[in-house]
Amino acid sequence: MAEQTFIMIKPDGVQRGLIGEIISRFEKKGFYLKGLKLLTVERPFAEKHYADLSAKPFFSGLVDYIISGPVVAMIWEGKNVVTTGRKIIGATNPAQSEPGTIRGDFAIDIGRNVIHGSDSVESARKEIALWFPEGPANWQSSQHSWIYE
Ligand code: TYD
Repeated sequence: MAEQTFIMIKPDGVQRGLIGEIISRFEKKGFYLKGLKLLTVERPFAEKHYADLSAKPFFSGLVDYIISGPVVAMIWEGKNVVTTGRKIIGATNPAQSEPGTIRGDFAIDIGRNVIHGSDSVESARKEIALWFPEGPANWQSSQHSWIYE
């Protein structure tokens, strides 16, 4: 199966009307959208998503932020989508994110950095299983041979 990643537009991205802009960047690159939903998650779910960070001082503020409104959860698929997706997103702290990246273009503070993307193929697998227990949608773009050689 082709590589997949989990991408989430955080509540600030939804509130600020950035859903279309963000989806557009992944779509225009040539990645395929294999899952999409708008949902508000509860505290235990957000804590599970960020379980690896539970010992960090910013953990409870991070969870408060993630549950503060609806998020857009997505599965994107394509060659190297985990690494390339992180490049499209930009560095964690928007003060260090390059212009042209999503965080570089649309965010200022680390605690309001608009978007999440899996940091490895293994975390993508776990995050997709958590957010999409029903699994990805099964379809392939008719543009496939115009994107891949
Ligand atoms: P992390 O997994 O380190 O970054 P990324 O989202 O780029 O994979 O951290 C998760 C989120 O936690 C990050 O997007 C923003 C928040 N965060 C803070 O609020 N303060 C911090 O000092 C760090 C490192 C992260």
